[in-house]
Amino acid sequence: MTSERDDQQWNPTTYDDAQSFVAAYGSSVVDVLEPAADERILDLGCGTGHLTREIADAGAGTTVVGLDSSAAMIERARETYPGPDLEFVHGDARSIDRTVDGTFDAVFSNAALHWIPDKDQDEVLASVRDALEPGGRFVAELGGRGNVAAIVDAVRAEGKAYGYDIESPWYFPSIGEYAPRLEAHGFEVRDATLFDRPTELEGEDGLRDWLEQFGDRLFASASVPADERADIVDAVEDALREDRIGDEKYYRDGTWIAPYRRLRFVAVAE
Ligand code: BEZ
Repeated sequence: MTSERDDQQWNPTTYDDAQSFVAAYGSSVVDVLEPAADERILDLGCGTGHLTREIADAGAGTTVVGLDSSAAMIERARETYPGPDLEFVHGDARSIDRTVDGTFDAVFSNAALHWIPDKDQDEVLASVRDALEPGGRFVAELGGRGNVAAIVDAVRAEGKAYGYDIESPWYFPSIGEYAPRLEAHGFEVRDATLFDRPTELEGEDGLRDWLEQFGDRLFASASVPADERADIVDAVEDALREDRIGDEKYYRDGTWIAPYRRLRFVAVAE
């Protein structure tokens, strides 16, 4: 999820080509959601709409609204998945009611909430709570504490060597941090899990492509110019090529494995 105001550019084509694992892994979050017949569900940070379609397919008569703050992603979702049971809306998770009418039986979100800064998370949770019927569920997965830490640390270290103080733009909370936040906004937390999910990045250039697709805000945090960004990415590849997660290398047999950690939760609006 992104917003057009900001420094992260979204390209629906490269996103779907090189980062197709995002939707593939997200299917298991749809399983947790268990969409039921005739429910109205909001997919928050729907991107190009693959999971929005899956949610609608999972329940007879289910209708789904996909919301994303990238106009490019929403345009692609509308082209790919026209249909009376889906609606795609360009909007902001902090103020859902500005672009979407009515309430929902469930709000779903996969790999989107960590794009919203810590300072705005309470606004998002209040907005989600307002969008739900009492008893409605909020089922979501985001990057959890320690997510992609080796990549962020390597970018920061190599950036420092170039004189840049790069900051992580992402919000990766622990259960202990996020559950009270949910409770403070009127949710009962029924389940929360933090788990490692080492994630294969496609192709020899998987790490470089990942940083190309997702790294704009990371480099923008220290106003790194494009030529030096490319040099820092080269240095990050070199630094991580021989590095390990436990006994396993991040780069093995021509493939990069990113150290993803997920925070998955089910919360019910009281
Ligand atoms: C994630 O899904 O965990 C993620 C994706 C892009 C940047 C940072 C984290």
